[in-house]
Amino acid sequence: MKVVIVGAGALGCLLGARLAAVTKVYFFDIDPQTVNAINSSGIFVEERDGSITEVRNVEAVEDHSELVDKIDLLIFCVKSYATRNAAELLHRFPALSSALCLTLQNGLGNYEALAEFFDPLRILVGSTAQGATLIAPGRVRHGGNGPTYIGSLQRGKDADISETVRLFRKAGLEAYEHGDVEKLLWEKLLINVGINAITAITGILNGSIVEIPEARNLCCEAVKEALEVAARKGIALPENYCEKVLEVANATGKNRSSMGQDIDRGRRTEIDTINGAIVKLGMELDVPTPVNRTLTQLVKIVERAKKGNR
Ligand code: PAF
Repeated sequence: MKVVIVGAGALGCLLGARLAAVTKVYFFDIDPQTVNAINSSGIFVEERDGSITEVRNVEAVEDHSELVDKIDLLIFCVKSYATRNAAELLHRFPALSSALCLTLQNGLGNYEALAEFFDPLRILVGSTAQGATLIAPGRVRHGGNGPTYIGSLQRGKDADISETVRLFRKAGLEAYEHGDVEKLLWEKLLINVGINAITAITGILNGSIVEIPEARNLCCEAVKEALEVAARKGIALPENYCEKVLEVANATGKNRSSMGQDIDRGRRTEIDTINGAIVKLGMELDVPTPVNRTLTQLVKIVERAKKGNR
């Protein structure tokens, strides 16, 4: 099975490094510095025990026309705002046209963006609890192991999920098929709704969401609004889901959320597909979402201010 990791960020590098032990892995990234770093030195993973795993048998390309081998699986790890552009670029290329696509990204709308260009029956949707932080191009710190769930939104007409799950397991990644990926996406979304914007705006680590009462309350208010939107969409989630979000904040306590890291680096955030997506759906479904609206606006203010400072 030949794999292309679309987006050599933190998660992309980690998954690519693991999968390269059992299959041919290419990286597709539009950043020339990242492509050069991977092609000249490979991928470095700083493991949790402090050791370094060096992976040399990978190739990175900046231009999809360099991918000549027939590709079996595309794993989308780009930021959610870049999914549509990446899919538009990649779908035309013959080596990729019959590949399965797997999205493991944060936020809502990734499946829909992929389905504009790829056969919906060949799109897999998943969520991973693997934690990674990008230290430099091609260099990641492994933050934590956790399961990856993979499924299809085309119920009953599933693309080959089991082969992808098997590939992950062969590479030492805990992976399972999941029968209700829409619920799975919402569960991940609620975690990001509760943690990411608050940590990004305030500069705190994930664990402080639990420790600081005002942060905890704000987190639960944002999650509550998102739960109301989910319920209006017919997605059944436990009412006390904020407890689960706080557990994740605690378990990843020493980490800076991905949105926090984006803000720290002066990069665009995924706010529009996380809290912003709740606001948009809330408007469509007539559910008030003032907390998510304010968090969205504050992230955008900080994002612009940081960009202006660069
Ligand atoms: O986006 C993130 O940072 C992660 O999904 C999570 C779980 C919030 C941990 O930092």
